[in-house]
Amino acid sequence: MDERLITSSMTREDEQIEYSLRPRFLKEYIGQRSVKEHMRIYIEAAKHRGEPLDHALFYGPPGLGKTTLAAIVANEMGGNLRVTSGPAISHAGDLAAILTNLAPGDVLFIDEIHRLNASVEEILYPAMEDYALDIIIGKGPGAHSIRLDLPPFTLVGATTRMGLLTSPLRDRFGIKEQLELYAPEDLREIIQRSAEILHIDIDPEGALEIAARSRGTPRVVNRLLKRVRDYAQVRGNGTIDLETARAGLDMLSIDELGLDAVDRRMLLTMIEKFGNRPVGLDTIAAATGEDATTIEDVYEPYLLQLGLIARTPRGRIVLPAGYAHLGYAPDGSEGSQQRLDI
Ligand SMILES: Nc1ncnc2c1ncn2[C@@H]1O[C@H](COP(=O)(O)OP(=O)(O)OP(=O)(O)O)[C@@H](O)[C@H]1O
Ligand SMILES: [Mg+2]
Repeated sequence: MDERLITSSMTREDEQIEYSLRPRFLKEYIGQRSVKEHMRIYIEAAKHRGEPLDHALFYGPPGLGKTTLAAIVANEMGGNLRVTSGPAISHAGDLAAILTNLAPGDVLFIDEIHRLNASVEEILYPAMEDYALDIIIGKGPGAHSIRLDLPPFTLVGATTRMGLLTSPLRDRFGIKEQLELYAPEDLREIIQRSAEILHIDIDPEGALEIAARSRGTPRVVNRLLKRVRDYAQVRGNGTIDLETARAGLDMLSIDELGLDAVDRRMLLTMIEKFGNRPVGLDTIAAATGEDATTIEDVYEPYLLQLGLIARTPRGRIVLPAGYAHLGYAPDGSEGSQQRLDI
């Protein structure tokens, strides 16, 4: 499959569509019930007190709605959203400039916050804790620091890698919410909402079929919806029903569990090259030609959730369900089921 439907990189068209499909307020945000419930309470309480919301950190796999939530926080609080990212801020001065330009009640969103460098992070600590910026003036023995006041603001951080955040940074977030993979029912609701916005004709069974094959991820759901729409337009009568959805997804090599060619290559490599032995992430990356970070962030969470693989202290192993899915007996011999063509 040339076109990668589940990567986290996006084309301009993707970005525009994603923007138009993005829920703007909490009531439009589907699923993630506990996150939503917590945020509703925190936001209401902060508004009631007339204070900015406490700093919030959203973490979880790509495409689950972290950026969307950051924008929702700004909308709900009635503040402006300022967007930046860990890799975009290379010097402490860059962050100082962003902070001094904030207005009271603004929401500063730092995406990929685990990628901030240490000198930039140091600036962030007093900014988060005391709304203050410490600036060093001069050099050598005459150097001294002055403290500037910042307007009260909310920092929203997002990361796919909670484990890479330093603990001083993590500790300065009063709100930490983990986003989880979505249930097919929630994804179906997301498809129906997206289909309405994009004027796509889809019936409930067609929607559920796409939902069930979207690896728990709203971004994937929206992409598959667009691709299946193309298929329905050219090969069907324009409406996405169960049959069209199945045929369109098959054409994209998305199987009935939502696995694509890379997932299957990963499983197959582990079975055929390594038998029942645990395999390290870097070995899987090298053997499949995928980048280790992508495997860990994008592919692995879904395979783990489906119970096709497991993580052991010595590496990843394929579970019996993984063998069965590819048509192997659990001992690695080819089973009676026909092997999937990959
Ligand atoms: N709860 C939701 N309800 C409806 N649509 C959603 C929801 N969450 C996400 N989406 C849709 O999925 C798309 C991707 O979400 P978003 O960009 O917020 O993910 P992300 O977690 O920031 O991903 P990344 O880690 O790659 O930055 C959004 O454009 C939005 O349309
Ligand atoms: Mg994002």
